[in-house]
Amino acid sequence: MAFESRIFFVATQQYSNDIVATNGWEFGLYRNTISINREKYLINQPFTSEKVVYLRTHFKLKYTQGMKSLKIGDLIASLPIVQGGMGVGISLSGLASAVANEGGVGVISSAGLGLIYKDKAKSVAEAAIEGLKEELRKARAKTEGIIGVNVMVAMTNFSDMVRTAIKEGADIIFSGAGLPLNLPSFLTEGAKTKLAPIVSSARAAKLLCEKWWQEYRYTPDAIVVEGPKAGGHLGYKKEQIFSEEYSLEKTLPEVVEVVNKFAAEHNCQIPVIAAGGVYTGEDIYNMMELGASGVQMGTRFVTTEECDADIAFKQAYINASQEDIEIIQSPVGMPGRAVRGSFLDSVKAGLKRPTHCAFNCIKTCDVVNSPYCIMLALFNAFKGRLEHGYAFAGANAWRAEKIESVKNLMQSLSSEYHAVVEKIKSKL
Ligand SMILES: Cc1cc2nc3c(=O)[nH]c(=O)nc-3n(C[C@H](O)[C@H](O)[C@H](O)COP(=O)(O)O)c2cc1C
Repeated sequence: MAFESRIFFVATQQYSNDIVATNGWEFGLYRNTISINREKYLINQPFTSEKVVYLRTHFKLKYTQGMKSLKIGDLIASLPIVQGGMGVGISLSGLASAVANEGGVGVISSAGLGLIYKDKAKSVAEAAIEGLKEELRKARAKTEGIIGVNVMVAMTNFSDMVRTAIKEGADIIFSGAGLPLNLPSFLTEGAKTKLAPIVSSARAAKLLCEKWWQEYRYTPDAIVVEGPKAGGHLGYKKEQIFSEEYSLEKTLPEVVEVVNKFAAEHNCQIPVIAAGGVYTGEDIYNMMELGASGVQMGTRFVTTEECDADIAFKQAYINASQEDIEIIQSPVGMPGRAVRGSFLDSVKAGLKRPTHCAFNCIKTCDVVNSPYCIMLALFNAFKGRLEHGYAFAGANAWRAEKIESVKNLMQSLSSEYHAVVEKIKSKL
C-alpha cells in the first residue's frame, strides 16, 4: 500500500473547488478523518486502499499527483497557495473569494479600508471597521473556502482591524510590517481565527514563537517568511535587498529549522509559508523542496480578472519592463518595491512637497518630511490614477503578459508543478 503516500485526491465535478484530501499516509491529525467541503467525515478505520476506492466512487474523486494540501490547524487548503494581502484595495473580497474558491487561501487586506469606505462612517477609523465587516461578509457570500485578513502592525488601527477580523470570524489573520508580538491577546473566548505572523528572518521567527508562548501559551498557527523579492514594503534594509545572504532561498530553510524545533518542543505543527518572488509552479516546487508547507503569492494575482484594482493598475504590470521595477524609500521609513512612473519620478526630482496628514494611518510615517501621503498615492493607484500615485509590485511584476482568471492561473500553477514532478520522476 506504499503507493498512497504519493497520491492526492482531487475532487471533480461539484467538489472541484474544495478540498480534498491530502496524502494518504500523512494524515496526521486527520488520520481517521477526511475533510470535504469543510465538513469532516469520520472514517472509522485507518485509511486503506479500499477506503480510497470508496471515496473515489462516493465523492467522484480522481487520483492525481499534485501539490500537497496546506493544513493550518483544522483548516485545509487543497492547494498550498496563500494569496498575499495587498493594500490599498488590491486584494478585497473579489480576489480573496476567487482564490478561496479555487482551493487556496484568499486574503483581504485591511490597509486603507477607511479611505475606500470613507462614506460609510463619520471617521476614517470607523469607516475602516465597517469596510472590513463588509468585505468579509461579501467574501463569505461568494465562497465556502478559506478567507483571511492581512493586518499590518505598523498601522495605527491595527487593534481595530484585528478585533473586527476575529469578531467577524475570519479564518486566519496574517500580520507583518513589524512583529505582531501581542496578536494572541486579541483572541476572544471560542474564537476560531488562526494567527500567522509574517517574518523576514529565523531570528524574528524564534523571538516571536518564544514571546507568544511565554506571554500567552500560544503557538503560531503558521508562519510566513517573506523574502526581499516581495512587493510592497520590505522588511529589509536597502543594502540587504539584493544580497544573497538575505535571499528567500537562504532564509527559508533557516526559518523552517527554528520553527520545526519549536513545534517539536511544544508538540504542535507550524507550517512555514514562503513568500517573495514565487511566480510559477516550478517556484512553488522549489520552495516545498526547501521545507515550505505552502507559498504566499502577491504579484502573480494582480494580473487576474478578479483582482480588485483598477485595470490601469494591472496594465502597469503588463507594460513594465524589468528596469521599471524599482526600490523606493517609502515615507513610512521602510524600503518598498514599485513600478516606476511619472509620480515617482517627480518625487525623485524633489517636485513633491510635504503634505498635511489627513489619515494618521501609519505609526512610523514621517509626516513633516514626507514628500507625499502614501495612503493617497496608493489609493489613487488602486483607482487607476497612476499619475497621482504608484503601483506596489514584486520583483517579478514585469513578467506579466496577460490578464487571466484566477481559475486559469491556479490551473497553470498546478500543471507547471506537475510538469516538474514528472520531469524529476523520469530522471529517477
Ligand atoms: C500591490 C501589493 C501590495 C501589498 N500590500 C501588502 C500589505 O498591505 N500588507 C502586507 O503584509 N503585504 C503586502 N504585500 C506583500 C504581499 O502580501 C506578498 O507577501 C508579497 O508580495 C509576495 O511576493 P510576490 O509579490 O513576489 O508574490 C503587497 C504586495 C503587493 C504586490
